Amino acid sequence: HLYAIIMAGGQGSGLWPLSRRDMPRQFVDIFGIGTMIERTVQRLSGIVPPDHIYIVTSSRGQALVSTLLPGFPMSNVLAEPLGRKTAPCIALATAFVKKRDPDAVTLVVPSDHLVEDNATFEKTIREGVQLALQKKELVTIGIRPDRPETTYGYMQVDIPASQRSLSPGQTTTLHHVRAFAEKPDSRTAQEFVDSGDFFWNSGIFIWHIDVICRELEHWMPDLYRDLLYMYEAIGSSKEQEVIEDVYSWQHPVAIDCGVMEKSESVVMLEGQFGWMDLGNWDDMLSAQQVSSIPDASGRVQNLIEVDTVNTIVHKPSSKAVCLVGVTDLIVVETDDALLICRKGDSRGVRKAVDIMRRND
Ligand code: GDD
Repeated sequence: HLYAIIMAGGQGSGLWPLSRRDMPRQFVDIFGIGTMIERTVQRLSGIVPPDHIYIVTSSRGQALVSTLLPGFPMSNVLAEPLGRKTAPCIALATAFVKKRDPDAVTLVVPSDHLVEDNATFEKTIREGVQLALQKKELVTIGIRPDRPETTYGYMQVDIPASQRSLSPGQTTTLHHVRAFAEKPDSRTAQEFVDSGDFFWNSGIFIWHIDVICRELEHWMPDLYRDLLYMYEAIGSSKEQEVIEDVYSWQHPVAIDCGVMEKSESVVMLEGQFGWMDLGNWDDMLSAQQVSSIPDASGRVQNLIEVDTVNTIVHKPSSKAVCLVGVTDLIVVETDDALLICRKGDSRGVRKAVDIMRRND
């Protein structure tokens, strides 16, 4: 009864100029180690039968999945007419999963995360599934923060944790979630880290289909009605028309703010599998611990550095680039764009992309 929903509709503008509107970051192989969507599907295939994995993306994303993952069942790739954040995306996929198996447990994962230790990830997910099978709560995976990160959401939990036993040999401690706080400013984030009872929200959720339907019905009744409307149409000649209809009136709402923040039935398991959201260039570079970003041939050619410290360059291979006397820079060039950013400041790239889009 286990199914997975991979959310792959975000733009990922934090990795501009390598990720673009028609080539979102989960579909770009930046370091030659495979795209994040491929790695996500691979990671889940140890836990969920491959034909139980659904990907929710744009129509462009659907085309990219068919190229990148040729064996993936295309009937499980759901194209949204418009990106409306994660609540409508989850409602759409839930309608499909519910149609197939009304007793399903669903694992919801973002498509652009790095997990270092797959075995521990699998173990934690299996424990979450045991918990979800009890049909009581929405299960989240929290990560113990090691810095006052302002690009993540935080969850405050009850400490000491409740000691409810899930299954023999269970290792992960279960916490009741008291509050959510999305992307705090840096002072608040520091207070959260110091308090010891706040965890990062990994954006990974596990729930029984009855429980997410119950919670959507309570907190987002309009979206729940839309879910049922899509559910009824799935498999009929009206399927596409109904999905387009539903999306024509959706507002962008993240599941975190539509349901998780309000619900009183949220629990958290701590994930200790080495986790990162690869949202910007600084995340990418620290995750890969690289000192250069190779081109397609695996090398950085025609790059001359004089008195240059701690600087990363990505550029078309033929172009000669000289760096003289610079420190702590990220330089990313493509055929039609150039990014020059101080290391540590790459969160600002999203703002630059927003400005360009407004000026379009
Ligand atoms: N299909 C679809 N449609 N997917 C979407 C959409 C959409 O409209 N919007 C976002 N996604 C996907 C993204 O591709 C990504 O995999 C995931 O959903 C979450 O994306 P964001 O909306 O960019 O969330 P965020 O990173 O700013 O914040 C969320 O994730 C953090 C951890 O990575 C929140 O849950 C935070 O609380 C959390 O810390």
